Amino acid sequence: MSGNPSVVLRKVGEIVLEERPEPQITDERSVKIAIKRTGICGSDIHYYTHGKIGSFVVESPMVLGHESSGIVVEVGSKVTKCKVGDRVAIEPGVPSRYSDEYKSGHYNLCPHMAFAATPPFDGTLCRYYLSPEDFVVVLPDNVSLDQGAMAEPLSVAVHASKLGGVHFNSSVAVFGAGPVGLLSAACARAMGATQVLVADIFDSKLDIALNMGATHVLNTMNVKDVRTEVEKLLGNYPDVVIEASGAEIAIINGIKILKAGGTFVQVGMGKDLVQFPIGQVAEKELTVKGNFRYCHGDYRDAVALMASGKLNIEPIITHRFAFKNAKDAYDFNLHNGKDVIKTIIEGPEESHKL
Ligand SMILES: *[C@@H]1O[C@H](CO)[C@@H](O)[C@H](O)[C@H]1NC(C)=O
Ligand SMILES: *[C@@H]1O[C@H](CO)[C@@H](O)[C@H](O)[C@H]1NC(C)=O
Repeated sequence: MSGNPSVVLRKVGEIVLEERPEPQITDERSVKIAIKRTGICGSDIHYYTHGKIGSFVVESPMVLGHESSGIVVEVGSKVTKCKVGDRVAIEPGVPSRYSDEYKSGHYNLCPHMAFAATPPFDGTLCRYYLSPEDFVVVLPDNVSLDQGAMAEPLSVAVHASKLGGVHFNSSVAVFGAGPVGLLSAACARAMGATQVLVADIFDSKLDIALNMGATHVLNTMNVKDVRTEVEKLLGNYPDVVIEASGAEIAIINGIKILKAGGTFVQVGMGKDLVQFPIGQVAEKELTVKGNFRYCHGDYRDAVALMASGKLNIEPIITHRFAFKNAKDAYDFNLHNGKDVIKTIIEGPEESHKL
């Protein structure tokens, strides 16, 4: 089988299926993966509609997709961590192995990161994708390819729970019930939190949160005093807030509801400049942390959490499309934001021809 059908963002508003050359292994520690499942992320949609996110601008055609799993079809001569036939989750960002950030243990912050579907790097939504062997995680038999694809957003959630210091009997509040917020709630619960409150403005999303381990939900739409409401629900204030919406009001409420000495983790990306209750940070000696993607061990732990059965990702998968209909999948996501949590693109099939 030659050729590499790929889902390409040509320019703003134009997604096409394109035949690209099949990638060849040149690095002896690389593996070639036949892609089987890919989740659509909000960032893909943003590149589709705006052509850029912050300083990342799509200047030439780019293959989309970065939440993928697949099957290893070929390995470089020095690969030891996986073998042909293994089902794997692909960690889609590879840092420079020479950067200070990498060497100091923060490779997610490496300025030379080659991240799939972040310009100028091609994404994973194609037949064959190459990855270094240490950026794939072999899936145990009881972890599905769907779960393998969801290891990507789940790793963000794992990173957030670790940054927040979530532990046994923690009380956690999560703002935003999109994929990362829902997975953050599930992850915090799996890591031992006894109280996990999820806040959003859509009841349909809060229902999913309850299916994923949230112990409490709060629709903040018409709530005047979120702090009082949270105290009523939990009987106390949370130790950790994971902000996964990026909305200014959620950031403000997140700081307000934290217990003194608590930790606030900003995961969501919204406006660059917001009003911020800085007085509360001083008065309550809060710790405020930023969360960018994930780092060493997070992918491995995400897969391990799914294998343990302590965390069920199924409820977030709300829609599915075949690879040949990938463009429809993006359009559907674009126009049905409220109803879609996560769309999975299946394939391509081995036989797929353009
Ligand atoms: C869990 O935390 C709550 C609130 O801090 C505390 O009252 C309770 O005793 C703790 N439970 C256990 C089993 O440690
Ligand atoms: C999945 O398999 C692993 C390894 O064999 C095992 O430890 C784990 O308990 C299994 N998980 C479930 C949910 O059965």
